[in-house]
Amino acid sequence: MKILNYGSLNIDYTYRIPHIVAPGETITSQYLSVFPGGKGLNQSVALAKAGAQVWHAGMIGEDGEFLKQICKKSGADTRFISQVETRTGNAVIQVSDEGQNSIILFPGANRMNTKEKVDSVLDFFEPGDFLLLQNEINLIGYLIDKGKEKGMTVILNPSPFDENLQEADLKKVDLFLINEIEGRQITGKNETEEILAEMKKCYPRAGVVLTLGSEGAIYQDTQEIWRQKAYETKAIDTTAAGDTFTGYFLAAMMEGKNKAQALTEASYAAAIAVSRKGAAVSIPEKQEVIYGIANQKIV
Ligand code: RIB
Repeated sequence: MKILNYGSLNIDYTYRIPHIVAPGETITSQYLSVFPGGKGLNQSVALAKAGAQVWHAGMIGEDGEFLKQICKKSGADTRFISQVETRTGNAVIQVSDEGQNSIILFPGANRMNTKEKVDSVLDFFEPGDFLLLQNEINLIGYLIDKGKEKGMTVILNPSPFDENLQEADLKKVDLFLINEIEGRQITGKNETEEILAEMKKCYPRAGVVLTLGSEGAIYQDTQEIWRQKAYETKAIDTTAAGDTFTGYFLAAMMEGKNKAQALTEASYAAAIAVSRKGAAVSIPEKQEVIYGIANQKIV
């Protein structure tokens, strides 16, 4: 089984600051780091490191060639990453001393996908293959429709949740991966159990993975529900923790592991990512994850 991750590639400009800047406030940052990122790229790197056969499709500008190389080096197939004449997408990320982040996105090349490109990429895949999407590129609704028509399993991480998703028929999604904030935005509910109940009501066919930061994660579908505690970790930079979780969870599912095992591996991998700086570069290798879980190693 193959997985196509059709998603963003960003250059992350990460500023370390004592606290997230407030409206009207100016803070001088302690340092600036430039990292490879983008929810799409991070999730492909996590999938590849976790052992999945992943193809990444997306767009970069001339300044983004290094992102393609990083994706390739992680083990992902990059033949569907194309270059266009515009700037690569980028993100301005504030990371506070507590490790919390706040992000401004500039989509750039990520919004230059065309229906022709989508059609030609999908031609390479078969019914039963996975199609993974986030919400940092254009044509999400078209991708969901076409992926479903083809008989692929459509997986959506609706992040960031915004008006671009209104054009998409979310009832066609087979599996959602959401955090608490996205859960509230999609359902209009505040409490964890209410979010889960509302997701079941609105999307009865779909599985849902709800990540809750330091409170762990929950998987639910029509048959089962599993709860996973978060591993303790010292938060250095939470950027890409959710992407790491997504990649490791899906890779475990593709290997035929049960949901409890998939949640365990994803949570441990995400805890490692939180303990390191950067996005794609903070994603651990599979051996670290498997060894750490087996030896109950504190991250
Ligand atoms: O999920 C983290 C990612 O969100 C960052 O790498 C940044 O590029 C934004 O897309």
